Amino acid sequence: MVVIPVISAKGGVGKTTIAANLCTALAQRGRQVLAIDLDPQNALRFHIANEPQACDSGLVEAATGLMPWARAIRQAHGGVMLLPFGDVDDERQIVFEQQLARHPGWLAETLARFGLPDGTLVVLDTPPGPTVYLQQALRAANFSVVTVLADAGSFATLPIVERMLDKYARVRPDYLGTGYVVNQVDPGKRLNHDVFEMLRQKLRPELLGVLHLDQSVPEALASAVPVHRYAPMSQATQDVASCSERLLERIDAARQAATFPSLRTMEPNR
Ligand SMILES: Nc1ncnc2c1ncn2[C@@H]1O[C@H](COP(=O)(O)OP(=O)(O)OP(=O)(O)O)[C@@H](O)[C@H]1O
Ligand SMILES: [Mg+2]
Repeated sequence: MVVIPVISAKGGVGKTTIAANLCTALAQRGRQVLAIDLDPQNALRFHIANEPQACDSGLVEAATGLMPWARAIRQAHGGVMLLPFGDVDDERQIVFEQQLARHPGWLAETLARFGLPDGTLVVLDTPPGPTVYLQQALRAANFSVVTVLADAGSFATLPIVERMLDKYARVRPDYLGTGYVVNQVDPGKRLNHDVFEMLRQKLRPELLGVLHLDQSVPEALASAVPVHRYAPMSQATQDVASCSERLLERIDAARQAATFPSLRTMEPNR
Protein backbone atom coordinates (compact mmCIF):
# COMPACT_ATOMS: atom_id res chain seq x y z
CA MET A 1 0.00 0.00 0.00
CA VAL A 2 1.24 3.47 -0.88
CA VAL A 3 -0.69 6.34 0.75
CA ILE A 4 -0.69 9.50 -1.39
CA PRO A 5 -2.31 12.63 0.08
CA VAL A 6 -2.98 15.52 -2.29
CA ILE A 7 -2.37 18.67 -0.27
CA SER A 8 -2.03 22.45 -0.43
CA ALA A 9 -1.72 25.42 1.87
CA LYS A 10 -4.29 27.45 -0.05
CA GLY A 11 -7.86 26.57 -0.95
CA GLY A 12 -9.28 26.24 -4.45
CA VAL A 13 -5.98 25.39 -6.13
CA GLY A 14 -7.16 22.10 -7.67
CA LYS A 15 -6.49 19.40 -5.04
CA THR A 16 -9.78 17.59 -5.58
CA THR A 17 -9.49 17.89 -9.36
CA ILE A 18 -5.95 16.52 -9.31
CA ALA A 19 -6.71 13.78 -6.75
CA ALA A 20 -9.69 12.55 -8.78
CA ASN A 21 -8.00 12.63 -12.17
CA LEU A 22 -4.78 11.07 -10.88
CA CYS A 23 -6.89 8.22 -9.47
CA THR A 24 -8.46 7.37 -12.81
CA ALA A 25 -5.15 7.82 -14.67
CA LEU A 26 -3.37 5.50 -12.21
CA ALA A 27 -6.16 2.93 -12.54
CA GLN A 28 -5.82 3.16 -16.34
CA ARG A 29 -2.19 2.14 -15.85
CA GLY A 30 -3.37 -1.05 -14.20
CA ARG A 31 -2.92 0.01 -10.58
CA GLN A 32 -5.41 -0.81 -7.85
CA VAL A 33 -6.63 2.56 -6.55
CA LEU A 34 -8.63 3.51 -3.45
CA ALA A 35 -9.66 7.20 -3.35
CA ILE A 36 -10.52 8.55 0.10
CA ASP A 37 -12.23 11.88 0.62
CA LEU A 38 -10.81 13.36 3.83
CA ASP A 39 -12.50 16.71 3.22
CA PRO A 40 -15.88 17.55 4.80
CA GLN A 41 -16.84 19.24 1.50
CA ASN A 42 -17.39 15.65 0.26
CA ALA A 43 -16.65 16.83 -3.28
CA LEU A 44 -14.44 14.06 -4.64
CA ARG A 45 -17.59 12.12 -5.51
CA PHE A 46 -18.61 14.73 -8.10
CA HIS A 47 -15.49 13.95 -10.14
CA ILE A 48 -15.37 10.17 -10.03
CA ALA A 49 -18.33 8.49 -8.33
CA ASN A 50 -20.61 6.42 -10.51
CA GLU A 51 -23.50 7.75 -8.43
CA PRO A 52 -22.46 11.00 -6.69
CA GLN A 53 -25.86 11.46 -5.03
CA ALA A 54 -25.55 8.05 -3.35
CA CYS A 55 -22.29 9.10 -1.65
CA ASP A 56 -24.06 10.86 1.22
CA SER A 57 -22.54 8.49 3.77
CA GLY A 58 -19.02 7.14 4.02
CA LEU A 59 -15.89 7.71 6.08
CA VAL A 60 -17.53 9.31 9.13
CA GLU A 61 -20.33 6.71 9.39
CA ALA A 62 -17.84 3.84 9.04
CA ALA A 63 -15.36 5.44 11.46
CA THR A 64 -18.06 5.80 14.09
CA GLY A 65 -19.35 2.24 13.65
CA LEU A 66 -22.65 3.20 11.98
CA MET A 67 -21.81 1.47 8.70
CA PRO A 68 -19.44 -1.37 7.72
CA TRP A 69 -16.34 -0.20 5.82
CA ALA A 70 -17.20 -2.53 2.94
CA ARG A 71 -20.51 -0.72 2.38
CA ALA A 72 -18.96 2.75 2.77
CA ILE A 73 -16.52 2.09 -0.11
CA ARG A 74 -18.17 2.48 -3.56
CA GLN A 75 -17.31 1.65 -7.12
CA ALA A 76 -16.20 4.72 -9.08
CA HIS A 77 -15.20 5.48 -12.68
CA GLY A 78 -12.46 3.40 -14.27
CA GLY A 79 -12.41 0.72 -11.58
CA VAL A 80 -11.36 3.15 -8.82
CA MET A 81 -12.82 2.42 -5.37
CA LEU A 82 -14.11 5.51 -3.55
CA LEU A 83 -14.61 6.15 0.15
CA PRO A 84 -16.57 9.43 0.31
CA PHE A 85 -16.41 11.63 3.40
CA GLY A 86 -20.21 11.59 3.63
CA ASP A 87 -22.63 14.46 4.21
CA VAL A 88 -22.07 15.29 7.84
CA ASP A 89 -23.72 18.08 9.85
CA ASP A 90 -21.61 20.59 11.77
CA GLU A 91 -22.03 18.97 15.18
CA ARG A 92 -21.03 15.48 14.04
CA GLN A 93 -18.13 16.98 12.10
CA ILE A 94 -16.83 18.69 15.24
CA VAL A 95 -17.13 15.47 17.28
CA PHE A 96 -15.31 13.54 14.53
CA GLU A 97 -12.54 16.16 14.39
CA GLN A 98 -12.15 15.99 18.18
CA GLN A 99 -11.75 12.21 17.87
CA LEU A 100 -9.10 12.68 15.20
CA ALA A 101 -7.26 15.22 17.37
CA ARG A 102 -7.22 12.77 20.30
CA HIS A 103 -5.96 9.89 18.14
CA PRO A 104 -3.43 11.32 15.65
CA GLY A 105 -2.48 7.95 14.15
CA TRP A 106 -6.08 6.85 13.55
CA LEU A 107 -6.01 6.98 9.73
CA ALA A 108 -2.65 5.22 9.40
CA GLU A 109 -3.80 2.45 11.76
CA THR A 110 -7.19 2.10 10.08
CA LEU A 111 -5.67 1.84 6.59
CA ALA A 112 -3.20 -0.78 7.82
CA ARG A 113 -6.15 -2.84 9.11
CA PHE A 114 -7.89 -2.75 5.69
CA GLY A 115 -5.40 -5.37 4.44
CA LEU A 116 -5.42 -3.89 0.92
CA PRO A 117 -3.73 -5.88 -1.88
CA ASP A 118 0.00 -5.26 -2.16
CA GLY A 119 0.78 -2.20 -4.28
CA THR A 120 -2.64 -0.56 -3.81
CA LEU A 121 -2.42 3.22 -4.22
CA VAL A 122 -4.52 5.06 -1.63
CA VAL A 123 -5.10 8.64 -2.82
CA LEU A 124 -6.39 11.09 -0.18
CA ASP A 125 -8.18 14.34 -0.99
CA THR A 126 -7.65 16.85 1.83
CA PRO A 127 -9.00 20.27 2.84
CA PRO A 128 -6.65 23.26 2.49
CA GLY A 129 -4.12 24.34 5.10
CA PRO A 130 -3.11 22.93 8.45
CA THR A 131 -6.10 20.95 9.73
CA VAL A 132 -6.58 17.79 11.73
CA TYR A 133 -7.27 16.03 8.41
CA LEU A 134 -3.92 17.12 7.00
CA GLN A 135 -2.16 15.93 10.16
CA GLN A 136 -3.81 12.51 9.82
CA ALA A 137 -3.04 12.36 6.09
CA LEU A 138 0.62 13.27 6.55
CA ARG A 139 1.09 10.79 9.39
CA ALA A 140 -0.18 8.07 7.03
CA ALA A 141 1.56 9.41 3.91
CA ASN A 142 4.16 7.55 1.90
CA PHE A 143 4.28 10.05 -0.97
CA SER A 144 2.68 13.52 -0.98
CA VAL A 145 1.42 15.42 -4.00
CA VAL A 146 1.52 19.18 -3.33
CA THR A 147 -0.73 21.32 -5.53
CA VAL A 148 0.23 24.93 -6.21
CA LEU A 149 -0.91 27.63 -8.60
CA ALA A 150 1.62 29.69 -10.50
CA ASP A 151 0.74 32.78 -8.50
CA ALA A 152 2.34 34.81 -5.75
CA GLY A 153 -0.10 33.52 -3.09
CA SER A 154 0.81 29.88 -3.69
CA PHE A 155 4.50 30.71 -3.80
CA ALA A 156 4.30 32.61 -0.50
CA THR A 157 2.40 29.83 1.30
CA LEU A 158 4.67 26.95 0.23
CA PRO A 159 6.59 27.08 3.55
CA ILE A 160 3.38 26.18 5.45
CA VAL A 161 3.14 22.88 3.58
CA GLU A 162 6.88 22.30 3.86
CA ARG A 163 6.72 22.69 7.65
CA MET A 164 3.87 20.18 7.88
CA LEU A 165 5.73 17.71 5.64
CA ASP A 166 8.89 18.06 7.76
CA LYS A 167 6.96 17.57 10.98
CA TYR A 168 4.71 14.62 10.11
CA ALA A 169 6.03 12.84 7.02
CA ARG A 170 9.72 13.35 6.24
CA VAL A 171 10.72 12.14 9.71
CA ARG A 172 9.38 8.62 9.00
CA PRO A 173 11.53 5.95 7.30
CA ASP A 174 8.53 4.73 5.26
CA TYR A 175 8.08 8.18 3.67
CA LEU A 176 9.14 7.92 0.03
CA GLY A 177 9.00 11.48 -1.24
CA THR A 178 7.10 14.57 -2.33
CA GLY A 179 5.99 15.66 -5.79
CA TYR A 180 4.59 19.03 -6.89
CA VAL A 181 1.95 19.73 -9.51
CA VAL A 182 1.61 23.32 -10.73
CA ASN A 183 -2.02 23.88 -11.71
CA GLN A 184 -3.80 26.30 -14.03
CA VAL A 185 -0.62 27.12 -15.91
CA ASP A 186 -1.36 29.66 -18.63
CA PRO A 187 1.72 30.48 -20.73
CA GLY A 188 -0.18 33.37 -22.34
CA LYS A 189 -0.24 35.32 -19.05
CA ARG A 190 3.07 37.02 -18.31
CA LEU A 191 2.92 36.92 -14.48
CA ASN A 192 1.72 33.30 -14.50
CA HIS A 193 4.62 32.42 -16.80
CA ASP A 194 7.18 34.23 -14.61
CA VAL A 195 5.96 32.66 -11.34
CA PHE A 196 5.88 29.25 -13.03
CA GLU A 197 9.54 29.68 -14.02
CA MET A 198 10.41 30.57 -10.39
CA LEU A 199 8.52 27.50 -9.14
CA ARG A 200 10.21 25.32 -11.73
CA GLN A 201 13.65 26.42 -10.56
CA LYS A 202 12.74 25.96 -6.91
CA LEU A 203 11.00 22.59 -7.21
CA ARG A 204 12.90 21.12 -10.14
CA PRO A 205 13.76 17.59 -8.96
CA GLU A 206 10.38 17.18 -7.29
CA LEU A 207 8.14 18.69 -9.99
CA LEU A 208 5.77 15.97 -11.24
CA GLY A 209 4.37 18.20 -13.94
CA VAL A 210 1.81 20.86 -14.73
CA LEU A 211 -1.91 20.99 -15.37
CA HIS A 212 -2.64 23.78 -17.83
CA LEU A 213 -5.63 26.05 -17.48
CA ASP A 214 -8.15 24.14 -19.56
CA GLN A 215 -11.92 24.60 -19.81
CA SER A 216 -12.41 20.87 -20.17
CA VAL A 217 -11.56 20.59 -16.43
CA PRO A 218 -14.62 22.47 -15.08
CA GLU A 219 -16.74 21.11 -17.93
CA ALA A 220 -15.84 17.53 -16.94
CA LEU A 221 -16.79 18.36 -13.35
CA ALA A 222 -20.13 19.75 -14.52
CA SER A 223 -20.71 16.43 -16.29
CA ALA A 224 -19.54 14.47 -13.19
CA VAL A 225 -16.91 12.48 -15.08
CA PRO A 226 -13.10 12.43 -15.07
CA VAL A 227 -11.43 14.69 -17.64
CA HIS A 228 -10.09 11.83 -19.79
CA ARG A 229 -13.64 10.55 -20.18
CA TYR A 230 -15.05 13.99 -21.03
CA ALA A 231 -12.26 15.20 -23.32
CA PRO A 232 -9.79 12.40 -24.11
CA MET A 233 -7.74 14.57 -26.50
CA SER A 234 -7.55 17.65 -24.27
CA GLN A 235 -4.41 19.27 -22.89
CA ALA A 236 -5.64 18.47 -19.36
CA THR A 237 -5.93 14.75 -20.19
CA GLN A 238 -2.37 14.75 -21.53
CA ASP A 239 -1.11 16.67 -18.49
CA VAL A 240 -2.74 14.29 -16.00
CA ALA A 241 -1.35 11.29 -17.89
CA SER A 242 2.19 12.62 -17.73
CA CYS A 243 1.89 13.60 -14.03
CA SER A 244 0.61 10.11 -13.19
CA GLU A 245 3.43 8.49 -15.16
CA ARG A 246 6.04 10.61 -13.35
CA LEU A 247 4.35 9.89 -10.00
CA LEU A 248 4.58 6.14 -10.58
CA GLU A 249 8.22 6.43 -11.69
CA ARG A 250 9.08 8.34 -8.52
CA ILE A 251 7.19 5.92 -6.25
CA ASP A 252 8.57 2.81 -7.91
CA ALA A 253 12.14 4.17 -7.82
CA ALA A 254 11.82 5.18 -4.16
CA ARG A 255 10.36 1.79 -3.19
CA GLN A 256 13.18 0.04 -5.00
CA ALA A 257 15.72 2.27 -3.28
CA ALA A 258 14.14 1.46 0.10
CA THR A 259 14.34 -2.26 -0.67
CA PHE A 260 17.84 -2.09 -2.17
CA PRO A 261 19.58 0.76 -0.30
CA SER A 262 22.61 0.69 -2.65
CA LEU A 263 20.27 2.15 -5.36
CA ARG A 264 19.19 5.05 -3.09
CA THR A 265 20.84 7.65 -5.33
CA MET A 266 18.04 7.03 -7.87
CA GLU A 267 15.58 8.96 -5.66
CA PRO A 268 16.72 12.58 -5.92
CA ASN A 269 15.02 14.22 -3.00
CA ARG A 270 12.74 13.42 -0.10
N1 LIG B 1 -6.43 23.19 -14.73
C1 LIG B 1 -7.63 23.74 -14.54
N2 LIG B 1 -8.22 24.44 -15.55
C2 LIG B 1 -9.43 25.03 -15.35
N3 LIG B 1 -10.12 24.98 -14.20
C3 LIG B 1 -9.59 24.29 -13.18
C4 LIG B 1 -8.33 23.64 -13.28
N4 LIG B 1 -8.05 23.03 -12.10
C5 LIG B 1 -9.10 23.28 -11.29
N5 LIG B 1 -10.02 24.03 -11.92
C6 LIG B 1 -11.29 24.52 -11.35
O1 LIG B 1 -10.96 25.24 -10.17
C7 LIG B 1 -11.96 25.01 -9.17
C8 LIG B 1 -11.31 24.56 -7.87
O2 LIG B 1 -10.74 23.27 -8.07
P1 LIG B 1 -10.76 22.20 -6.90
O3 LIG B 1 -12.11 22.08 -6.29
O4 LIG B 1 -10.16 20.97 -7.45
O5 LIG B 1 -9.77 22.90 -5.85
P2 LIG B 1 -9.45 22.43 -4.37
O6 LIG B 1 -8.03 22.78 -4.10
O7 LIG B 1 -9.85 21.03 -4.17
O8 LIG B 1 -10.42 23.37 -3.51
P3 LIG B 1 -10.66 23.27 -1.93
O9 LIG B 1 -9.44 23.85 -1.28
O10 LIG B 1 -11.91 24.09 -1.72
O11 LIG B 1 -10.84 21.82 -1.59
C9 LIG B 1 -12.95 24.00 -9.76
O12 LIG B 1 -14.05 24.68 -10.27
C10 LIG B 1 -12.17 23.35 -10.88
O13 LIG B 1 -13.00 22.88 -11.93
MG1 LIG C 1 -11.06 20.17 -2.69
